[in-house]
Amino acid sequence: MPLRFTLNGAPVEVPDGTSPSTTLLNFLRAGGRTGAKEGCAEGDCGACTVAVLDADAAGGPAWRAVCSCILLLPQVDGRELRTVEGLAAPGGALHPAQEAMVEALGSQCGYCTPGFVMTLTHLFAAEPNADEATLREALGSNICRCTGYVKILAAARDAQARLRTQP
Ligand code: FES
Ligand code: FES
Repeated sequence: MPLRFTLNGAPVEVPDGTSPSTTLLNFLRAGGRTGAKEGCAEGDCGACTVAVLDADAAGGPAWRAVCSCILLLPQVDGRELRTVEGLAAPGGALHPAQEAMVEALGSQCGYCTPGFVMTLTHLFAAEPNADEATLREALGSNICRCTGYVKILAAARDAQARLRTQP
């Protein structure tokens, strides 16, 4: 039986013959979803961050940011996934975390940016009132080599404020 999952709200079926050792990252990128990037390919840099719908401690739905470079396709069979391509509104308006990153100049080459945006989006979805220590801890799983973290942290705080006021 083919592997299936939901990606940004749409069903995806993994073609027969696809190696079960294919990473989710490689599968996404081969299919043209190139927002998630390969940096370290070993779960350390966050460039490949996507989100998976999981359960919180009370059993309720909770999105979690995960590294797609160390997830194999069979591990996401039947799951619901979201990539950075799924964040913008249907009309194309950027997600508040994306807007904040742009306006705070939190991106230079942009290689790390989708990963940061995914981490921030799902941190604040789970913890809207995350404090500074929690924010820094969450961003510890994302590496940027060129912008510097001052602007990224400013973008993160702005994103948190924007998301708090969303209806
Ligand atoms: S490429 Fe996945 S964490 Fe670095
Ligand atoms: S903007 Fe270049 S690595 Fe972060």
